Amino acid sequence: MSANKKQRLDKCVAHAYGLTRNIAFSVIKQGYVSVDGEVVLDPSLKIDVDAQLSFDDQDIKVADGFKKRVYMLNKPTACVCADKDAHNRVVMDIFTAEDKADTLHCVGRLDIDTTGLLLVTDDGELNHKITSPKSAIEKTYIAVTDQKIPNSAIEAFARGIHHKEEKKRYKSAKLEILEDNLAKVCVTEGRFHEVKRLFECIGLNVLELKRIQIGSLYLDEYLAEGEYRLLSDDEISKIFQHKE
Ligand code: URA
Repeated sequence: MSANKKQRLDKCVAHAYGLTRNIAFSVIKQGYVSVDGEVVLDPSLKIDVDAQLSFDDQDIKVADGFKKRVYMLNKPTACVCADKDAHNRVVMDIFTAEDKADTLHCVGRLDIDTTGLLLVTDDGELNHKITSPKSAIEKTYIAVTDQKIPNSAIEAFARGIHHKEEKKRYKSAKLEILEDNLAKVCVTEGRFHEVKRLFECIGLNVLELKRIQIGSLYLDEYLAEGEYRLLSDDEISKIFQHKE
């Protein structure tokens, strides 16, 4: 997607205000959007990138709405974090052809059966910054296990679990037991199958796993599984803030 040509109004509004295309379409139809001071009711009208949008008491230049994008997706199960896969549905299949006109990539990976907060972006630099081990961004998951989680696991996770087969010690993780078989786990490493492996080391299997938070950014509770939306600049900065 380039900022040097005319674009449909609904697309401009979605980009500028972090709305889904459907919501952008609807607010335009209802007369809430003006372009250079005039209310425009046609979502398909092509508008210039130099035009000024106005909605919800906020003025935004169209071109500024086409900055690099970061989407929050509520990843469904049975879907892999890859651009292509011979056997499974991939995350990119969820995005409309228009949204993925520029190269979008997942920010890190969730397993095929893990659901919840996945970031997808066309900003390679930001992607690297979020996934770099140096950033040590906290990722929080809700895990359902096959057996009761012993209280001793809290301390074991905090110390850093040693994985015998991998001959590695995992970094300290925070475990909060919510119910017998339900826990909140916060990790900073982002290793392959990290949460499942931590539980395996104490003899438990993870039956369900959902990511709910990255840094201080929470999964939007109004996003159903398989839905996505753009993040605002304020939300992007939350990724780098410590967990609240
Ligand atoms: N840890 C896992 O085990 N799986 C994921 O998908 C993410 C973290």
